[in-house]
Amino acid sequence: MTTHFDMLLFANLATFNEEFGFTHNTHYGAIHQGAMGIVGGEIAWIGTKQDTKTLQLTADNSLDFGDKWITPALIDCHTHLVYGGNRSNEFEMRLNGVSYQDIASSGGGIMATVNATRDLGFDDLYKLSAKRLKTLINQGVGTVEIKSGYGLDLDSERKMLTVAKKLGDDFGITIKKTYLALHAIPPEFKDNREKYVKNACEWLKILHDEGLVDAVDAFCESIAFNRDEVAQVFDVARSLGLPVKLHAEQMSDMGGGALVADFHGLSADHIEYLSDESIAKMAEHGVVGVLLPTAFYILKETKLPPIDKMRQMGVNMAVSTDSNPGTSPSTSLLLAMNMACTLFGLTCEEALAGTTLYAAKALGLQESKGKLDIGFDADLAIWDIDRLADLCYLIGASPVHGLLVGGKVV
Ligand code: NIG
Ligand code: FE
Repeated sequence: MTTHFDMLLFANLATFNEEFGFTHNTHYGAIHQGAMGIVGGEIAWIGTKQDTKTLQLTADNSLDFGDKWITPALIDCHTHLVYGGNRSNEFEMRLNGVSYQDIASSGGGIMATVNATRDLGFDDLYKLSAKRLKTLINQGVGTVEIKSGYGLDLDSERKMLTVAKKLGDDFGITIKKTYLALHAIPPEFKDNREKYVKNACEWLKILHDEGLVDAVDAFCESIAFNRDEVAQVFDVARSLGLPVKLHAEQMSDMGGGALVADFHGLSADHIEYLSDESIAKMAEHGVVGVLLPTAFYILKETKLPPIDKMRQMGVNMAVSTDSNPGTSPSTSLLLAMNMACTLFGLTCEEALAGTTLYAAKALGLQESKGKLDIGFDADLAIWDIDRLADLCYLIGASPVHGLLVGGKVV
């Protein structure tokens, strides 16, 4: 065993590791007065503070955080962080009773943001997006998924994904880039949906060749794309070896959860209207159910996602911001965790597992992130809190004391 590390950290630990008692979303796998050895940006050893004395462990750099808590750095597994413009006008319209669907069909909604995003140059789009990303990082987030989908033509989709890539390079955190051309039909293809879907399939191949795509998403809904259209782009994803995920069952049951499962995809997201049949298929294929409570709240949705059924069937649940200008103008993953508890009835353990362990799984990163384990990336959030439940309980606080990604301070 290694006895000398680059770094030894002392704090209370929330490991989410079965070896330390984590089981079925309970107990956080907590180690009080714990210690962790880091080598080369990875976790090399986990134990207690007392063990470090008994085993005479040493390090170039020892940091004692006392009674603070360390969790895996948070993971925001579903965002539309890169966009231009603002839709507070639509927020006001909805307060006056106009529905999200009606705004979309009259040319607002996603298309309003598409126009604003197309109009922006790369640098301006980068600056706006960087501001939002900083807010997430300040909440202990070390991995963020960012979708395209406000470009809807090849150049604009490329611009969005390139901004996402540059954010990862510049901020030293992990960014996963998701292609979402099937987000809305742009007006230039209004009378030729078939052609738009075909083009979106061709653009995917090009952008994948350019190293800009890690996964493929679509919006499967009556106001967006049907299952057959989604399956066409998923077929291309499969041929390129890319994983798929889906905006599924947000406003109605389109059988999207089952479709993702048929493609052995990563996650079905929103899922308020998820059917028993889809839940069973998701459980069978290990598809994560991603809960987006801020969007539920903003749209004043009343249909709750089937949390109990997913628990019973063993569908892992993640929690994310869905940060976007329409249904979730938020960059607070901690608020999403609070809402997952208050609105959806998750336990605090489930909410925190949903932004660490299962958010990693929703991005296909379950072998390297979201858990404190030997060989995992030293992506760590250090929190100035008394109890782990404080992360779900406090509203508007900034309890982050520090953030490491790959063992480096962010
Ligand atoms: O996750 N539902 C589709 N996409 C986004 C909303 C996009 C928008 O309104 O700009 C969502 O809710
Ligand atoms: Fe979304």
